[in-house]
Amino acid sequence: MSQARKKVLEVRDIHKSFGFVKANRGISFDVYEGEILGVIGPNGCGKTTLFNCILGQLKADSGTVSLNGQDVTGQKPAQLAKAGLGRTFQLLQVFDSMTVEENLLTAAQAHVGSIFSRLFMQPDLGKMDDVNRVIEAFRLGHLAKEDAGSLSYGQQKLLDIAMGLMSNPQIVFLDEPAGGVNLSMLADVKSRLLELNEAGMTFAVIEHNMEFIFEVADRIVVIAEGEVLMVGTADEVRNDPKVIEAYLGH
Ligand SMILES: Nc1ncnc2c1ncn2[C@@H]1O[C@H](COP(=O)(O)OP(=O)(O)O)[C@@H](O)[C@H]1O
Ligand SMILES: [Mg+2]
Repeated sequence: MSQARKKVLEVRDIHKSFGFVKANRGISFDVYEGEILGVIGPNGCGKTTLFNCILGQLKADSGTVSLNGQDVTGQKPAQLAKAGLGRTFQLLQVFDSMTVEENLLTAAQAHVGSIFSRLFMQPDLGKMDDVNRVIEAFRLGHLAKEDAGSLSYGQQKLLDIAMGLMSNPQIVFLDEPAGGVNLSMLADVKSRLLELNEAGMTFAVIEHNMEFIFEVADRIVVIAEGEVLMVGTADEVRNDPKVIEAYLGH
């Protein structure tokens, strides 16, 4: 759980429009080392756009992002991954016809050298130890040699999160890890997240499932119509009239 800790990420005044749609209208927040920061808000309020601006998938119209006090604004996704920002997407990024192990190895190798070194050097580039550690942490051992496409949706979601960790990130961004996952797998996703956090991993998590986020997040940023409505603990957020209004009014 987070007390006054080192600030890992500082996001300041992010603006992003798509034509006339103002998706992000001056969003600022911090992420502290070792915390799980939840990001919630009604559909279409700008959460995914915000993550894409932070992670270089989209170019923000204005605003800054600093990682450990270093300005990383405007860097490309690959540079940001190297700098320590890991992520998963709202839609799954696993390769169906590759095994769980191969998916993880690919995710690890995406951050090593050039495409040529990946093609022509030793096949695992020394990453197999990392793969095995992550497989163990995610309890995916029994599925390691299975094609990802044969896994349940919830298992694929876990694999997707595991892949986000292969770059050895300082902070991992998850976009709706609970989305579409059935109840029993949801408990698994939650446990893995809490275990990894307990082991020191920092997370920023967009989630639509309120119960999920209330249970895992140390602090929650509530976004409404492209702006930060409030930042608080689960209890503060749950009972705030502004938050209730933002959801009901939508
Ligand atoms: N690539 C895009 N082009 C045009 N409009 C977009 C694009 N991405 C998102 N939007 C719009 O920006 C707003 C915020 O979307 P998004 O960030 O996906 O919301 P959330 O993730 O909170 O559901 C929505 O009105 C959405 O339609
Ligand atoms: Mg979204």
